[in-house]
Amino acid sequence: MKAQDVMEEFKLLVRSRFPVIYLLTHEEDRAEKLVSSAATELNKKIITWAVTSGDASAPPQKKAVDALDAAMASSESAIFFYKDFHHYIETDVVARKLRDLARDFAKSQKTLVLVSPTLKIPVETEKDITILDLPLPGREEIRAVLDDALAFAAKSPKLSVALSENDKDAVINAALGLTISEARRIFSKCLLTDQVFDSRDIGMILFEKKQIIRKSGSLEYFESNETLSGVGGLSNLKKWMASRKGVFTQKAIDYGLPSPKGLLLLGVQGCGKSLAAKSVANLWGQPLLRLDMGRIFSSYIGSSEENIRRAIATAESLAPVILWIDEIEKGFSGIKSSGATDAGVTARIFGTFLTWMQEKKHPVFVVATANSISDLPPELLRKGRFDEIFFIDLPSEAERREIFRIHIAKRGRKPDSYDIADMTALADGFSGAEIEMAVVEAMHTAFGETRDFNSADVMSALRGSVPLSRTMAEEIGYLREWAKERTRPAT
Ligand SMILES: Nc1ncnc2c1ncn2[C@@H]1O[C@H](COP(=O)(O)OP(=O)(O)O)[C@@H](O)[C@H]1O
Ligand SMILES: [Mg+2]
Repeated sequence: MKAQDVMEEFKLLVRSRFPVIYLLTHEEDRAEKLVSSAATELNKKIITWAVTSGDASAPPQKKAVDALDAAMASSESAIFFYKDFHHYIETDVVARKLRDLARDFAKSQKTLVLVSPTLKIPVETEKDITILDLPLPGREEIRAVLDDALAFAAKSPKLSVALSENDKDAVINAALGLTISEARRIFSKCLLTDQVFDSRDIGMILFEKKQIIRKSGSLEYFESNETLSGVGGLSNLKKWMASRKGVFTQKAIDYGLPSPKGLLLLGVQGCGKSLAAKSVANLWGQPLLRLDMGRIFSSYIGSSEENIRRAIATAESLAPVILWIDEIEKGFSGIKSSGATDAGVTARIFGTFLTWMQEKKHPVFVVATANSISDLPPELLRKGRFDEIFFIDLPSEAERREIFRIHIAKRGRKPDSYDIADMTALADGFSGAEIEMAVVEAMHTAFGETRDFNSADVMSALRGSVPLSRTMAEEIGYLREWAKERTRPAT
């Protein structure tokens, strides 16, 4: 959602008498601005509360309860803007009071807004509270921060600015994904490190942004050098990707092309799913963000629900972008037993993700990969989530030939000097990853004997290893059978 949309959504919620709105954000100032301008437009008073206001000697927990009582007793048509309530919300008295308040407010002209950087909602109040994520600042807001920084520099005789209009756009792009205060800090840093803000600082902004994004949770900027030419076979998939190459350009948007939602690459391990995901970013010329589902569920970072929401918000603020979710089945494997084992957390995260996939309007293209279907929730596979589900099977003979050539060439040797046909025949049932491993092993052997590796080395490496397709024949057969009617072959 864009900031403007959130404003509309917020006003709609207030007008429809949603009693309690939980604004999830690290940017309290922005939230306060948004709420107070909504209050003005709706002709409502805004009443702010923080634990630091009022009697300093009173215990905070009591103050929180009193604040709820005060809101209930008030006869004003007002928005109550309460800060950092997550500290108090999980006690029995507060939770009870919140429920009473919600019932009461639903029939009144009053709305309670809780603003907090972290999501904490007691189960019993879940139905009474509506969560609203404040999106990260958009271009215009970042531009305003940049203008402030430049105005500051203009007043100081020691500082100078050497940015063209194009540079400024690049600076703003580089800072997308940051909060206002993070952007402000980075821009000052750009000025203060060498007293001049110029295009060389763009690299630093990007670098810092990458650090911030990684620290904040489950997303990581992934640098990928992979290109489609390094992917052997998978012609249908490659065709699909190539035919949508320009989808995120302004030209495509002006033309009215809908932006694609995403792909699910399902298939046998080691056959190029991750590789294809990495190369699509380069093909389309978009940044690649990797979402680590495992970290979503890590309690070291924050609550799982907050983590997925934050990841989505960050990805949206960086759009257009490719969001790569590798081995998605691992994140959602606990879903069937979720109610019993984790109080429904996995199921809820999954629900949040699905709803987002279904409704997203930002050009965030999701590429998810999965090695197995037994752990995949069926809802994920329904129409409307992904544009296409591709099945990636073990490479065919022609594909193996291509893969051998790719990996031999990658090691700086001429594929034509090898007996590709013999190797290919012998590698029946081998995955791309296993073919690569055989080439690498041949190199090790030959290097130990201080000579270059030859076809015989590769062949003996192949003979010496058992491909997964043999040890996992049954699973692969099942996967194939399942995929037949539900997916499109990548080849
Ligand atoms: N079709 C392919 N073409 C070229 N290399 C491949 C192919 N499939 C696998 N490989 C090699 O094996 C490595 C691991 O494959 P990966 O894409 O991670 O498999 P998956 O994600 O399907 O399990 C790749 O980085 C690549 O070097
Ligand atoms: Mg993989």
